[in-house]
Amino acid sequence: MDAREAALRRAHEHALRWLASLPDRRIPARASVDETVRALGAELPDAPSEPADVVDLLATACEPGLTAFPSGRFYGFVVGGTEPAALAADWLVSAWDQNCVMRAASPACTAAEEIAGAWLLDLLGLPPGSAVGFTTGATMANFTCLAAARDTVLRRAHWDVARDGLAGGPAVRVLVGADRHMAVDLALRYLGLGAPEVVESDSQGRIRPPALRRALDRADTRRPTLVVLQAGDIHTGAFDPFPETVQAAREAEAWVHVDGAFGLWAAASPRHAHLTQGCSAADSWATDAHKTLNVPYDCGLALVRDPSALRAAMGLRGDYLIQHERGDPVDKVPELSRRGRAFPVWAALRSFGRSGVADLVDRLCRHARAFADGVAGIDGARVLNDVVFTQVCADFGDDARTERVLARVLEDGTAWISGSTWRGRRVIRISVSNWSTTDTDVARALDAIRRAADATAR
Ligand SMILES: Cc1ncc(COP(=O)(O)O)c(C=O)c1O
Repeated sequence: MDAREAALRRAHEHALRWLASLPDRRIPARASVDETVRALGAELPDAPSEPADVVDLLATACEPGLTAFPSGRFYGFVVGGTEPAALAADWLVSAWDQNCVMRAASPACTAAEEIAGAWLLDLLGLPPGSAVGFTTGATMANFTCLAAARDTVLRRAHWDVARDGLAGGPAVRVLVGADRHMAVDLALRYLGLGAPEVVESDSQGRIRPPALRRALDRADTRRPTLVVLQAGDIHTGAFDPFPETVQAAREAEAWVHVDGAFGLWAAASPRHAHLTQGCSAADSWATDAHKTLNVPYDCGLALVRDPSALRAAMGLRGDYLIQHERGDPVDKVPELSRRGRAFPVWAALRSFGRSGVADLVDRLCRHARAFADGVAGIDGARVLNDVVFTQVCADFGDDARTERVLARVLEDGTAWISGSTWRGRRVIRISVSNWSTTDTDVARALDAIRRAADATAR
């Protein structure tokens, strides 16, 4: 057995052991950063080491410092797990080591992007023929879409950003809902667009259509305008009312972008597709495959109705590249060299099939409702949102007790939930995003929340 094979076999054993530990593992890590640094050894060795020994050291030193993100009882932030076919495909991605820049350099990579891209548009109910870029995550997907948006609205105003930059050009207005995700603001910052104008949202975080109309009408002159809507609020799971808001933005000749990092997937379920109704009339959409679709990190998706707008923003020419007149994967994302993110996406979609993705979305929503019912039954607990999708937001009467419940749940280790501040009060957030979560996982997590609530009742 050569050194490479020995290292891969060792990695395989460690990976299987880690995955087998998930059903009964405490969710939080047992070791701190400093402890893990000590276990790994901070000194760069002078001499080479056997690859298999390096894998053993990495796996054993890191294991206590790993959080069980892929567990069915991880409900923090918005975090998907790893569906088996996608995980195995991701191993192949590393072994194949394809650079997905160009069609001619890796035909297989481009083929996977094209097939997975078409399947995604179909499942998400978006216009066929839209461009699909495979980014690192939803933050970069928002950035990518909004770059196409910025350049297009400025081009319509006879300003060429690629040639002349932003200075001296028409100011771009960006309107966002008060409850948009901060990743949108970050993307706008990267794009030199500054802070957006904030439009009032309702009790569930949905942008108010009359407020958006008023804001759009307020401009003295028709300035290049972007409107950013949201499919899935991280606290409530709520969806902006797309039919009215997209219509209002269209009348103002604005580019409409939708951040649907986890919520866009509602469209893949006949039972939940009503939540995204009207969303397909937008110009661009950002989502993640590493959340609801449950592929490994890092994989976001930038979807743009007009492929030429995306290519104008992201495309490049290089004398030493082998470029195709139809465009290349590099023309749809910010990076040049990158890994084959489309392979795990293709594998997850091929493995789930259309009905499997719908079942996955329905199951996540069903678990979220079970959480809401269970939490609502706990003395002193209040579920604060209408649970329409996968997010549950609750408190325990006052901030101090909510904090104590959260701390106890994390100490208990059976499940992981996140805290947040929402509408001026401390809350717990339960985000159901993992394909492997079972009814038993939900029951065990609810028991842990009940125990924490009982212990803090006095
Ligand atoms: C609505 C929304 N937008 C954007 C993001 C950022 O996604 P990522 O962490 O993949 O960049 C998130 C993450 O939770 C989100 O929920």
